[in-house]
Amino acid sequence: MSLVEIHEVGARDGLQNEAVVVNADAKLELLRRLAAVGLRSIEVTSFVSPKWIPQLADADEVARRFERHPGVRYSALVPNAAGYERFCRAKLDVAAFFVSASEAHNQKNVNRGIEAHLDAFRPVAERAKADGVTLRCYVSTVCGCPYQGAVPVGDVLRVVRRLLELGADEISLGDTIGIGVPRQVRELLRAVSGEVPLERIALHAHDTYGRALANVESAFEVGLRRFDSSLGGLGGCPYAPGASGNLASEDVVDLFERSGVDTGVDLDALVETAAWAERELTGRALPGRVYRARLAAREREA
Ligand code: HMG
Ligand code: MG
Repeated sequence: MSLVEIHEVGARDGLQNEAVVVNADAKLELLRRLAAVGLRSIEVTSFVSPKWIPQLADADEVARRFERHPGVRYSALVPNAAGYERFCRAKLDVAAFFVSASEAHNQKNVNRGIEAHLDAFRPVAERAKADGVTLRCYVSTVCGCPYQGAVPVGDVLRVVRRLLELGADEISLGDTIGIGVPRQVRELLRAVSGEVPLERIALHAHDTYGRALANVESAFEVGLRRFDSSLGGLGGCPYAPGASGNLASEDVVDLFERSGVDTGVDLDALVETAAWAERELTGRALPGRVYRARLAAREREA
């Protein structure tokens, strides 16, 4: 059992933000490779509207066809009842709902306000609980909102409480625009852990301002053990609107392994997988720092 759990979101949060649309066969190969390097919690896709996220319009096909690796927990985004029907057909392990701490971001992301979005999800959450499905709930914009600016901790807590009432098993705190700083993340975690034990909280850091690893380290020191990240930093394409700068999985794995904290992930194999993704999926240089540093070292040696 590893000391920390890396929740890999490259196939979902990564690909939803890439300018290129990756075909289903390549997505299946990506999912196979992610499990093979030792990742044990993998977000497969997203059962949202294909009009809103065309990059994942093949979610049903991908979820039906991909090869399950024993011992891996597979999740997908589920925004509403229609998404939950698709999730059930796919027979995945974890339904991941999402809601923002800021009103303006929620409105842009799901076309309705926070309360309306939560209310509409209540019967879906009840079904998920009755079906024995694990419910992961993302709270976005916890450190700041691209439209509203500052987001008070009280607004995050209000949403977290509502999600716990709905039966959330796990809360993933999303620094959607990567604006957070370590002190803020520590204070946020202290506040949220007053509502739900740290074991059930994850940090979903984005690296937009280059602070994701500092925030991960500070969350670890507070006692957090679950971290979301994306292979090679997939997503956050600088040419795409809404670029988000996902934290690269190799960066977080390298940080922990070099600190003597077991992640269960084979870093060399993960770096090879990032190289494969750059070559075969995106065709653009992936931003992951450890990946780029390893590549540069290899070129110097050659
Ligand atoms: P809407 O347009 O208000 O929906 O979108 P609607 O209920 O009025 O339905 C409109 C049409 O969409 C209808 O079809 C529905 O059937 C269909 P039509 O009659 O026009 O042919 N529809 C669906 N189709 C497939 N699957 C569904 C579904 N639901 C409705 N589940 C909706 C509302 C929520 C659907 C839309 O706004 C949406 O899909 N938004 C998703 C946006 C998104 O995926 N954002 C990115 C994920 S969140 C994120 O990345 C943050 C995170 O990483 C954490 C962090 O970083 O902070 C998690
Ligand atoms: Mg995200």
